[in-house]
Amino acid sequence: MECQFDRAVPARVGVEAEKWDLMKPGLSPDIVPLSVADMEFASPPAIIEALEDTARSGLWGYTGWGDRYFNALRGWMASRHRWEIQREWVVRVNGVVQGLNAAVRALTRPGDGIVIQPPVYPPFFRAVRDNGRTLLESPLRLENGRYEMDFQDLEEKLARPEVTALILCSPHNPVGRVWTEEELRRLGDLCLENHVLVISDEIHCDLIQPPFRHIPFASLGERYAQNAVTGTACSKTFSLAGLCCANMLVPDPDRKAALDAEVERSGCGTYSIFGVRALEAGYEQCGPWLDELIAYVGENHRYLRAFMEQHFPGVFVAPLEGTYLAWMDLRPLGLDPKEQARFLEDEALLYLSHGAGFGAPGFERVNLACPRSVLSAALERLLSAARKRGLAR
Ligand SMILES: Cc1ncc(COP(=O)(O)O)c(C=O)c1O
Repeated sequence: MECQFDRAVPARVGVEAEKWDLMKPGLSPDIVPLSVADMEFASPPAIIEALEDTARSGLWGYTGWGDRYFNALRGWMASRHRWEIQREWVVRVNGVVQGLNAAVRALTRPGDGIVIQPPVYPPFFRAVRDNGRTLLESPLRLENGRYEMDFQDLEEKLARPEVTALILCSPHNPVGRVWTEEELRRLGDLCLENHVLVISDEIHCDLIQPPFRHIPFASLGERYAQNAVTGTACSKTFSLAGLCCANMLVPDPDRKAALDAEVERSGCGTYSIFGVRALEAGYEQCGPWLDELIAYVGENHRYLRAFMEQHFPGVFVAPLEGTYLAWMDLRPLGLDPKEQARFLEDEALLYLSHGAGFGAPGFERVNLACPRSVLSAALERLLSAARKRGLAR
């Protein structure tokens, strides 16, 4: 049976697609990057239609948000994630990264300690350092093939007097964990005990492989909600990153007011009408499309794992609980991280996100949101380049 996600997508060359522009110029358009987290699939048809209507109207003035927007957001959070949100909590921002940065500035003081859990999405490091706060790393531990939070280390770091916030990645990019209720409560309790705010980046919340379930941190209960700022968007869900539309949800009214003021001051709260209409159409109509996408990404991950097991038996590929990003440890190839990057890009023509940026040199992140034919061609290039060097069977 033909699957919509199997269809070849046009090369995004010369259209200012960041992911594609990061590749060396002059490569064949058959070389598709598997790096930056957007999809090599068109967005769902209902969103395309909504944007066509918006384009045809010719009316694109300053844009606010109203009942339809909030009801779409509320309905989605309630039905997909069993989280009842309130209108008063919503702070609109252009992107979750901007929201995280604004939250750091609004809700912590210069010099404060902020904990993150590497390997993690590179802008987390910058959100702390670039805003003049002190970075504390509490690395995840790889236990029996699964990444875990290091609670012993967290107990010690969160208790330090200078620490006032933790940036949580839930689900976790790049390791693909969907945190359990027990893990989130344990983390949330430690943060409450130590008066540490939880800034929870939940941008990947919709991309969950069955049987896992995303639990919004703030849905754990009132005490947790009052101690949390949550970043959400449907930009990963429906591949809309270029439309710049995200929401920070802040139940505590004082923190909400402080974040509103910082968003206003820093100017990261100007929306495009296209982002608003896309969110409405996506959350109202595109659940079934998303379910198909999740199944497809799950199959891509099984394909990747089987391929690596067969040809690179020593390489660890992390299980995929959430996100569309696979995470693997290529250190058994025996190349130093710079040489590994050169080998992948120059010899295998494989554009991945290198682990060093996430705090884990030698690892690679593979974007699985692409047709299987693209993934298999990429893996065949890896295999033939590795064979030439005697690195694979
Ligand atoms: C964990 C995480 N947060 C935020 C973003 C980007 O969010 P935005 O484009 O809304 O700034 C990404 C994109 O890859 C991400 O993985």
